[in-house]
Amino acid sequence: MSNISVSTNGAKRSTGTKGDVVLEVNDLNVSFPTDDGLVHAVRGVTYELRRGQSLGIVGESGSGKSVTSMAIMGLLPKTAQITGSARLEGDELLGLGDAELSRIRGKKISMIFQDPLTSLNPVYTVGFQLAEAVRVHYPDVSKSEARTRCIDLLDSVGIPNPQQRVDAYPHELSGGMRQRVVIAIAMANNPDVIIADEPTTALDVTVQAQVLEALEKAREEVNAALILITHDLGVIAGHTDDVLVMYAGKPVEQGTVDEIFYEPRMPYTLGLIGSLPRMDEDRNQRLTPVHGTPPSMLNLPPGCPFRPRCPMHQDICAEVEPDLMPIGPTGHVSACHFSDQLEGKAPDDVFAAVATDLSVEAEVEAAEAEAAALHAQEEEK
Ligand SMILES: Nc1ncnc2c1ncn2[C@@H]1O[C@H](COP(=O)(O)OP(=O)(O)OP(=O)(O)O)[C@@H](O)[C@H]1O
Ligand code: SF4
Ligand SMILES: [Mg+2]
Repeated sequence: MSNISVSTNGAKRSTGTKGDVVLEVNDLNVSFPTDDGLVHAVRGVTYELRRGQSLGIVGESGSGKSVTSMAIMGLLPKTAQITGSARLEGDELLGLGDAELSRIRGKKISMIFQDPLTSLNPVYTVGFQLAEAVRVHYPDVSKSEARTRCIDLLDSVGIPNPQQRVDAYPHELSGGMRQRVVIAIAMANNPDVIIADEPTTALDVTVQAQVLEALEKAREEVNAALILITHDLGVIAGHTDDVLVMYAGKPVEQGTVDEIFYEPRMPYTLGLIGSLPRMDEDRNQRLTPVHGTPPSMLNLPPGCPFRPRCPMHQDICAEVEPDLMPIGPTGHVSACHFSDQLEGKAPDDVFAAVATDLSVEAEVEAAEAEAAALHAQEEEK
C-alpha cells in the first residue's frame, strides 16, 4: 500500500498509514538564472513522506532529481530561485538561514552522496569522523560513549570487525565498505529522513545490492523515511515502497513499486522498464530502448516534454503539457493525455519497432532555437 500523497491539480491525495508525515514537499519549483536564460530545473514537485516509508526518485540525467533534494537541504547556490514549500515535521525548511539549516542537516535529515570519498576526509579515521558526526549535535557525549556508539553503528551497517575498523582510514577500506561508513554517519543521530543520491552508482554491481541492503537496514533501525535517488529503475525494485518518476524537472508518474512496474501509465515509465535487463524470462530478449535525449531545461517548448521521444504523441501533446491525473483510487497518478490507452500495455507494445519521430525532434529543436534567439534579442535591448 502506498504511503505517498500526491497533488493532482491542487487536490492532495493520501494513501496508507505507515507512520506520521515527516516531510511534506509542495509545488517545489527551482530555476537557475544563467547567461543563456532561466534553467527550469524543477517544476512542481509535490510529495508526502511518512516515517518508515521509502520513496524512489527515478529519471534520466538532468531530470531534476538532485536539485529537488538539494533545495530541501538548503544546499543550492544563492542564485537559485526557489518557490513552493518543504516542511519537516510541520516546520518550513525553505528560506531558513545557514545556522538553522546546519542544526537540521545530519541530525534530522541526512544525505548520502554517490562517491563516498568526497564525503569522507582522507586524513581522519572513520571512527573520528563518525564521532564528530555525533558530537557536532551532542557535544556533551563523552569520548568513550562516542567510540562505543561508532562501533555499534559500524556493526549495524555490516562492517566486519568494527572494533578494529573504527581506527581505519578511508583508503584502507573498499568502496562498498566506505559507502557503509557514510551510511553509518548518516544514521548516527537517528534522523527523520535519509536522502541517498545515487548511493551505489560508483560501486561494482556485486557490491551494490549489499550496500542497498545495509541502507535499508539502517533506515529500519532508526525508523527514518528514505528517499533513494537513482537513474536506474532496477535499483528501486525491492528497495522502496513507492516511486516518483521525473522527466524534464516534473513528476510524470507516481505510485507504489508494483503500480509503477506492473501498471505503468506514462510512456516514459514504460520506456524505463523496457530498458531494464530481463532476469526472469528470455535473457536473450532485446531491450527496448527509448530513443532520443531529454530536452534542454532552458527554453522548454510548450506541450508535453516527452513528445519528441513518444511513439504515442498526438496533436494535443504539442500544445498542452499534461497534469498529473489519478489512475485509480490508490494514489497512483500519471501525466499523459492518453494514459487510459496504456492499460495492460507492455514496453514492446509502445516502443518496439518505432523509431523516434525525427520530424518532431527537429521541430522541437527549431522551437528551442527560436526561443533562445528571442532571449538573446531581449538581452541585447
Ligand atoms: N547551479 C546550477 N546552475 C544552472 N543549472 C543547474 C545548476 N544545478 C543544476 N542545474 C541544472 O538543473 C537540471 C537538473 O539537474 P540535477 O542535478 O537535479 O539532475 P539529476 O536528475 O540529478 O541528474 P543526474 O542523474 O545526472 O545526477 C540540469 O539541467 C542541470 O544542468
Ligand atoms: S502526453 Fe502525449 S507526448 Fe506526452 S507522454 Fe502522453 S502521449 Fe506521449
Ligand atoms: Mg543527480
